[in-house]
Amino acid sequence: MTEQTHQAPCVLVTGGAGYIGSHTLVSLVEAGYRPLVLDNFSNSARQAIERVGVLCGETPECIEGDIRDRSCLDDIFQRHPVTAVIHFAGLKSVGESVREPLRYYDNNVAGSVTLLQAMQAAGVDTLVFSSSATVYAPGVTMPVAEDAPLGPINPYGQSKLMVEQVIRDHCLAHPTFRAALLRYFNPTGAHPSGKLGESPRGTPENLVPYIAQVATGVRDALTVFGNDYDTVDGTGVRDYIHVMDLAEGHVHALDALRERTGAHTWNLGTGTGYSVLEMVRAYEKACGREIAYTVGERRPGDVGTCYACTRKAASELHWQASRDLEEMMRDNWRWQVSQDA
Ligand code: NAD
Ligand code: WQD
Repeated sequence: MTEQTHQAPCVLVTGGAGYIGSHTLVSLVEAGYRPLVLDNFSNSARQAIERVGVLCGETPECIEGDIRDRSCLDDIFQRHPVTAVIHFAGLKSVGESVREPLRYYDNNVAGSVTLLQAMQAAGVDTLVFSSSATVYAPGVTMPVAEDAPLGPINPYGQSKLMVEQVIRDHCLAHPTFRAALLRYFNPTGAHPSGKLGESPRGTPENLVPYIAQVATGVRDALTVFGNDYDTVDGTGVRDYIHVMDLAEGHVHALDALRERTGAHTWNLGTGTGYSVLEMVRAYEKACGREIAYTVGERRPGDVGTCYACTRKAASELHWQASRDLEEMMRDNWRWQVSQDA
């Protein structure tokens, strides 16, 4: 262990083996932090941590365990000088949350409460939480700002809003506690090395992983969910953000919390929306292959357009996304190809 890593502030990263978590580990190491991962590998594998090790020259310590396991958390806080927690651990499938709501409330809500209790007992007072643009009410004006009306329409989104509320209440009761509630828009892309990326299990629910599987021949064709929205070409518009921009946003959030207490909400998006067909064309350009698609029905619960107001994050986090759509698609494709290699 180098002297620098020894002195580096230790950040507990729950869910650090997952898609966004693993990319954030790279940004944390680059920024001089020492990440310590807690993951139960319910949607990831230890290999992701090893890949981070290859990229960073040092493999973050990784503990296999569950955020709902209080004794596991107490043990971690006792053994490691954790100064802050970045809390990614959670289940994230909207469809699954409709079928199995109790599993989502248990894992995402009860798990977060247990984590907060353990943090309080250990005197750790800094938390960055993975929330989602899905907490906004359907029909809000775009670009959507942090003070827009809230109203998630599925158990997954409800679980995110509930945890936000739990954290807000905890901050009110404990004035030294500080928390960043980061509302992600649509993360995509991969680390530019091609060594780290998203590995969805089963049939992807999200657009870009699905397109990627069409490009690699795993699936025959994309179904475009509706082409009769009031958008540029009738297909749904979203704010896609490069996962490395998102990862860097977490480092900025940690910095911002040094000079603030209480709960703070920040959108992490680019402020620009692209339609499904624009995404298909961008991916075709990156991979040099045609992406077959058919147009189907609208997906229940989808809105036509969603993109972020980025002003608050820019002024308070001193952060904004810098990677464009071409880079997102190119890095995603490099990751697909390197997995096949
Ligand atoms: P992911 O599934 O790749 O990562 C989540 C990680 O948490 C996985 O490694 C999983 O094994 C772990 N985990 C789940 N439950 C756990 C538990 N009880 N104890 C310990 N580990 C547990 O998902 P991701 O895309 O990296 O998302 C990270 C966070 O960001 C999630 O909370 C998700 O809800 C949120 N989010 C994701 C998106 C997105 O589109 N990817 C958008 C908005 C918010
Ligand atoms: C994007 C666009 C679809 C798949 C979801 C969650 C949200 C957040 C991010 C975690 C939409 C269209 C998609 C397909 C399609 N996750 N589409 N064919 O719906 O904005 O957000 O992921 O917090 O909670 O709801 O992202 O990638 O599913 O869809 O036409 O096979 O692509 O209709 O317009 P979404 P998405």
